[in-house]
Amino acid sequence: MKSVNVNMIPVQVVDEGQGEPVLFVHGFPLDGRLWQRQVAAFRTSHRVLVPDLPGFGQTPHPEETTKFRMEDYAQVLHGVLEGLGVAEPVTLVGLSMGGYIAFAYHRLYPQKVKRLGLLHTRAVADTSEAAKGRHDTAAKVLVEGMGVLEAAMMPKLLAKDAAPDVVELTKKMIHQTSRAGAAAALRGMADRPDVRSDLGQIKVPALVLSGEFDAISPPAEMEEISKALPHAAFVVIPGSGHLSPLEKPAELNQALAAWLQ
Ligand code: MLT
Repeated sequence: MKSVNVNMIPVQVVDEGQGEPVLFVHGFPLDGRLWQRQVAAFRTSHRVLVPDLPGFGQTPHPEETTKFRMEDYAQVLHGVLEGLGVAEPVTLVGLSMGGYIAFAYHRLYPQKVKRLGLLHTRAVADTSEAAKGRHDTAAKVLVEGMGVLEAAMMPKLLAKDAAPDVVELTKKMIHQTSRAGAAAALRGMADRPDVRSDLGQIKVPALVLSGEFDAISPPAEMEEISKALPHAAFVVIPGSGHLSPLEKPAELNQALAAWLQ
């Protein structure tokens, strides 16, 4: 792992392989290990970049009162790419919260995006009730810890028959997320914009991908995103829940390889 200082935060990032850069952005409340099977598959043909966002995995957490908006994470990604000397446009692949961040990155730095991979993500904003729930959860996590999020999220993240090692790694990532990092992201996600009306402006080739059993960003909702994008392929991974990079890595890698060609 490399360490890149962005706004005083030492962001930890996997940087492996050579060739066209592909930046993978993890979801909530996970970290770069979400993409371990994609790193292994694509480092032979691409430069694979996988950061742990601030407060997640091995990147230090912000203050307890911080709100990290999706644009803030996007600026961190921009700083990471600059720090690593990546000047050319990247293929940006984001999962769920990583997808919200990918939308923000494209909004801020459209000329820096070559392709956009939108995996298991959503274009709608939170309802006011859901946003309030996020703020309540942020307060609870700070006091009670990540068990709160394990209980709330595990039933929704994976398909029922997910392999035991996938279940174990997912729980491990949740518990290694810092309380402050999770709270900052929850507050930021509560505030994220509805991007449905922007989709028509995203002219780069896109891959929109869901899982058959994705309970958070179901196939029908993601198909709507793909229809609103001018140049999108739409793929549903059979048997996968919300985390195809771990649950169905071979199938996801095949879809990514076909799209990257
Ligand atoms: C994620 O996987 O990043 C989260 O489920 C996103 C969310 O809570 O909206």
